[in-house]
Amino acid sequence: MTTVNSEKLSSARFAQATDAFVEVFTASVDFDQRMAQQDIEGSIAHAKMLTHCGILTETERDAIIQGLNQISTEIINGEFVWSIKQEDVHMNIEARLTDLIGIAGKKLHTGRSRNDQVATDIRLYLRSEIQQITAQLVRLQTAIINLAEQHADTIMPGFTHLQVAQPITFGHHLMAWFEMLARDHERLQDCCKRLNVMPLGAAALAGTSYPIDRFMTAELLGFSRPSANSLDSVSDRDFAIEFTAAGSLIMMHLSRFSEELILWSSAQFDFIEMPDAFCTGSSIMPQKKNPDVPELVRGKSGRVTGHLVSLLMLMKSQPLAYNKDNQEDKEPLFDTADTLINCLRAYADMVSHISPKKENMYQSAKRGFATATDLADYLVRKGMAFRDAHEIVGLAVRLGIDTQRDLSEISLAELQTFSTLITEDVFGFLTLEGSVAARSHIGGTAPNTVKAAIETARLTMNQ
Ligand code: ARG
Repeated sequence: MTTVNSEKLSSARFAQATDAFVEVFTASVDFDQRMAQQDIEGSIAHAKMLTHCGILTETERDAIIQGLNQISTEIINGEFVWSIKQEDVHMNIEARLTDLIGIAGKKLHTGRSRNDQVATDIRLYLRSEIQQITAQLVRLQTAIINLAEQHADTIMPGFTHLQVAQPITFGHHLMAWFEMLARDHERLQDCCKRLNVMPLGAAALAGTSYPIDRFMTAELLGFSRPSANSLDSVSDRDFAIEFTAAGSLIMMHLSRFSEELILWSSAQFDFIEMPDAFCTGSSIMPQKKNPDVPELVRGKSGRVTGHLVSLLMLMKSQPLAYNKDNQEDKEPLFDTADTLINCLRAYADMVSHISPKKENMYQSAKRGFATATDLADYLVRKGMAFRDAHEIVGLAVRLGIDTQRDLSEISLAELQTFSTLITEDVFGFLTLEGSVAARSHIGGTAPNTVKAAIETARLTMNQ
């Protein structure tokens, strides 16, 4: 005997009810209900367009809009009953709409498919998440600029290979962070350009036979234009991959900042005091103050990169057009957006409360012979070939190590045993202040240059 499962989606075609486990296994409503408001927004625009094109009546449209608004309120108030039987966010909302307004609810899906619907919802969702991420990113950029401004002439050692290399200013170091974030900001904006294209009208894959107006729907939803190919519109998730790639770069940068903050706040470096509010103690060691926030952010960078790889793998073997595989795009995407917002927020709150220990930074730069290159440059200016100067300064550094003195603390007479080209004026170059001040070209670490870089940064941010 043939039985019809009346609750099953597209029930008429099936002789058997869905296996109970398969029903749960294939459902996405537990996570895609997060796009409910975007789904409703898309449906309202679709209904308006259908009415404009003479496919729905104004009465039907008004009933649909009123019903969808009610559903929106039910969801916001936590009163909406989500059902696994209805598989996903789209079917849950449509079923409830039909409960509420009857036959007009069943007409909403005219000229569309869940395939173009979900592609639209994700784009709307990501667009608004990117706005929130950008807002936090800008807060962080601003906090960094403000701290850099206070420390445009605070001297610290600059490192290569994590060995003291040359003196720099703390402001200059912070502005390096700023530059990384400025590129991240640009990448997010760029990603939005390709994201902001509207799939609705592609229907299942081939478009629709109704006389729809895709430009109208695109305009109503704030998209820059309708997509150019129906097959591509419902299938590719490259925009999501691009977003996750931009997100991975942001997290990679935050992870690098974290690593530095963790090192700097250790007793061994002792360059900064982390704000208490962003650290925790140990349950066993009473003296501990752990830099939890940077550590956690460094850890979370791994999961976002993981999401990027998941999405790339999800997409790579799919034939055109839509495949159910794509349902797997949501959880990595949602988690990427959440992680970015939370990490950037924590960082923006934290950075302004970091206090550098200026004296420790200064002494550390002094201990590492950070002005050795300046001495070599000095000899070159006096006519010596750079390679010879490099050799001679190496000898001076060795004397410094043996006698535990910085280059600036070695007497003129002793320095002159290495080269008679050295005269009294050398000390102007061997001090940390002289060294940083000399690097005053664009992009350099001189305090005035750093102040100018901060000015430029403020201007570009206000554009
Ligand atoms: N829940 C589905 C997804 O996330 C919606 C699209 C379903 N389309 C389909 N033909 N089964 O991708």
